[in-house]
Amino acid sequence: MNIDYSQKIPNNVGLSDDRTLQRALEHWQPEFLNWWADMGPEGSTAFDVYLRTAVSVDPAGWANFGYVKMPDYRWGIFLNPAETDRRIGFGDHKGEPAWQEIPGEYRANLRRIVVTQGDTEPASVEQQRHLGLTAPSLYDLRNLFQINVEEGRHLWAMVYLLHRYFGRDGREEAEALLERRSGDQDNPRILGAFNERTPDWLSFFMFTFFTDRDGKFQLCALAESGFDPLARTTKFMLTEEAHHMFVGESGIARILQRTCEVMNQHKTDDPAKLRALGVMDLPTIQRYLNFHYSVTIDLFGADLSSNAATFYSTGIKGRFEESKLGDDHVLKDATYPVLEISGSEIVTREAPALNALNEKLRDDYIRDTMAGVGRWNKVMQKNGIDFQLTVPHKAFHRQIGTFSGVRVAPDGSIVGQAEWDAKVRSWLPTEEDKAYVQSLMGRVVDVGKFANWIAPPPLGINKQAIDFEYVRFN
Ligand SMILES: [Fe+2]
Ligand SMILES: [Fe+2]
Repeated sequence: MNIDYSQKIPNNVGLSDDRTLQRALEHWQPEFLNWWADMGPEGSTAFDVYLRTAVSVDPAGWANFGYVKMPDYRWGIFLNPAETDRRIGFGDHKGEPAWQEIPGEYRANLRRIVVTQGDTEPASVEQQRHLGLTAPSLYDLRNLFQINVEEGRHLWAMVYLLHRYFGRDGREEAEALLERRSGDQDNPRILGAFNERTPDWLSFFMFTFFTDRDGKFQLCALAESGFDPLARTTKFMLTEEAHHMFVGESGIARILQRTCEVMNQHKTDDPAKLRALGVMDLPTIQRYLNFHYSVTIDLFGADLSSNAATFYSTGIKGRFEESKLGDDHVLKDATYPVLEISGSEIVTREAPALNALNEKLRDDYIRDTMAGVGRWNKVMQKNGIDFQLTVPHKAFHRQIGTFSGVRVAPDGSIVGQAEWDAKVRSWLPTEEDKAYVQSLMGRVVDVGKFANWIAPPPLGINKQAIDFEYVRFN
């Protein structure tokens, strides 16, 4: 399935045969480029960046590397190849042929899902737009830009669905995706975590580890959709998402490595001394982890949700790895454990599984996250440092769901406001933490050089050397 790059909009969906769609997208494209110029990576337009571009959606063809100026990146529309005779795998329509057009009665819900997913893509580009100015190396700068262009392409993927399947209101939604702004008072992005700032590279790596992983789980659930074009487009997005999470996981691992080296060299675990030595102390990293984790698990929504039940039963959003689950895939009589507050304790109770699907996806996410944090802890182990990062309790620092109204410590104990106020400085990043991390952010762009607070990666990108010129400034 090669991508046709001879077209104004590269695609593998036969765009040249669909005049209406072509007109809609060609109208939207300059608006997208204006948005990129406005809100994309700051001051980057003249740089030659060593980027991968998809030339085909086959496993071999989607990562084609070369120097590209980012405004010339070939954003386009790439769907995974269609499966012959694909059937819906869950819900009331289980076993029926997957839909190639939207069933009228599900149109509003599908549009809402596509718009909500689509909104996160430009949001993260906006959140990250200043980070290029403080990149710790050319290698990291390239990775940032790779993520930025691919999030831009994910926006294209959702806009394609809006234009192709939703008519006029789809076109209006596509315009609105370019009008909302992350963190804007009057016209913010739809979801909370996408209105937070990403002011430094510690936040960026945490964001790509935690929040891009939320993206992975949402995309996996949508890749099961009975609406086949949505399933195919999200499957292809997942191939790109893996690299985003890699950037976060390896970024934090390199920060940990550098901190451990300095701790061993100077035989100290005193945060003040380590700060004086210009590295990030481990308790600060734990507080950033607590923040990003708690903000991200809110993205899965309320613990019990009738919308989630509807999305599932109507066949528009499945579960993570639906086909690998050994139940009836209808869930009418099934239950699922959820947490609730009973007096001064958090207890587990069984809820109808259909209503608890957000919680199930959140739990799948948490398992994946904990495995990643376990890999981070190996860095401390290998360096002989007696410190382990931990994932806070699911109820800690929540803004959505059962726990939004209570104060819960990272260990899961319910605390009063007074205790929260007394201890929150050791649980969440303080203004001093943020100012310190910010003070480390300086631009390092000499070939092969890295900022003092982060170790070089073990390998370069696409088998290139670590001191490869990943970005040329001209
Ligand atoms: Fe994305
Ligand atoms: Fe991503």
